[in-house]
Amino acid sequence: MDAMGEQLTISQVSERTGVATSALRYYEDLELISSTRTEGNQRRFERSVIRTVSVIKAAQEVGLTLAQIADALSSLPEGRTPTKEDWSRLASGWRDELDHRIRELTALRDDLGDCIGCGCLSLRSCSLFNPDDRMAESGTGARFIAGEPRPTP
Ligand code: FES
Repeated sequence: MDAMGEQLTISQVSERTGVATSALRYYEDLELISSTRTEGNQRRFERSVIRTVSVIKAAQEVGLTLAQIADALSSLPEGRTPTKEDWSRLASGWRDELDHRIRELTALRDDLGDCIGCGCLSLRSCSLFNPDDRMAESGTGARFIAGEPRPTP
């Protein structure tokens, strides 16, 4: 039915990848994948789309947005199907992104720990709004109301 070189219907791609046909159509709308149309206007996909969809699924597991995935895939020459080397390079970049998010979430968890049992929700002293009390050197009181710029995270 799908010998090498034969194109796949959207249902076949869905069966092979476990991705719903509606999601595949959405991926196509976002130009993450592409298809040709039969005379009857039905989609036909190259078999290589399975690999591209696998990369999309893996990236989503990592927590990347579809926009980030589209950006990564567009970095491939002429939108080619990711090769083993492409996948290795993309995964390496995503691991760095994941490491960064883990550090941010760990810091957020620690800040939230200060809130447990507190309940002040003070814009001046709550760890969530003012980690490391970054505005303390500017003096006491409501510094933001005084017109000072908010610190960048
Ligand atoms: S609620 Fe008091 S430190 Fe966050």
